[in-house]
Amino acid sequence: MEANTQPNQEKRKYSSALRLWHWLNLLVITGSLTTVLINSTLNDRKGAVDAYQQNTENVSLAAAQIQSVVHQQEDSVWEIHVYFGYALATLLLFRLILEFFQLSDQKFIRILKNTYQHYKDTKEHRFKAQKKFGVKLVYVFFYLLLIVMVTTGLTLVFGGDFGVPKTISHDVKEVHGFTMYLILAFIAAHLAGVYLAERKDQKGITSDMINGGD
Ligand code: HEM
Ligand code: HEM
Repeated sequence: MEANTQPNQEKRKYSSALRLWHWLNLLVITGSLTTVLINSTLNDRKGAVDAYQQNTENVSLAAAQIQSVVHQQEDSVWEIHVYFGYALATLLLFRLILEFFQLSDQKFIRILKNTYQHYKDTKEHRFKAQKKFGVKLVYVFFYLLLIVMVTTGLTLVFGGDFGVPKTISHDVKEVHGFTMYLILAFIAAHLAGVYLAERKDQKGITSDMINGGD
């Protein structure tokens, strides 16, 4: 079995812990995004009032009553969002600890350094080396986004208990909401990258992320 120390080497190896983290992370992020989607569509208060008024003839409810019911539903969905949030925070912690316990040639930091070194030193295939280093930088960007998402999310949940003022919480919520778009951008780029890698020079990369690779 060869390890992933040489950036240009086509053998890949992902530890079972990294693979478990990767696929659980996918599930939890998908769950979290689904709760956001539900609250911005089905539990949209203005939309609910319009829909109710258009679709009911004999029963009448005040807009405020409809909004209160939708508000309760919205809160229940946010509760589920927070559970996904705890799972994501746990997975982030797991990923950080894993970095210390990975075999040294599977450590993300080491692979990042090797890919950078290779890009700096190589005279041939510079574009390929640059691309490999670029992909690793995108992962660094994603891990930073994850840290922002978890710290802002936990601040929204527990900030009140630690005396974080409402105005700050409001800004934190804005940052939290905006970071979601950056995470969506990462996911789109990542899926496109994996698709292109499969079609071009890294056939089987997805199954490597499932069964570990060579
Ligand atoms: C990829 C992961 C996540 C995504 C995409 C996400 C997305 C969002 C979005 C778009 C909002 C609405 C913000 C607004 O109204 O401006 C929100 C609210 C919130 N999120 Fe997250 N979030 C994620 C992770 C987390 C985590 C890790 C926690 C912490 C446990 C968390 C806790 C919260 C809380 C408490 C709210 C406020 C809910 C309310 O208004 O009652 N989120 N999230
Ligand atoms: C929410 C969705 C996803 C997120 C957040 C995500 C995140 C990540 C991250 C952070 C890595 C780098 C891991 C590391 O080396 O530390 C990675 C690698 C990888 N992911 Fe994903 N992933 C997602 C979905 C997917 C899907 C759906 C697939 C397959 C179709 C996939 C296939 C892969 C593969 C093959 C790699 C290894 C690529 C390489 O070595 O450069 N990912 N993913």
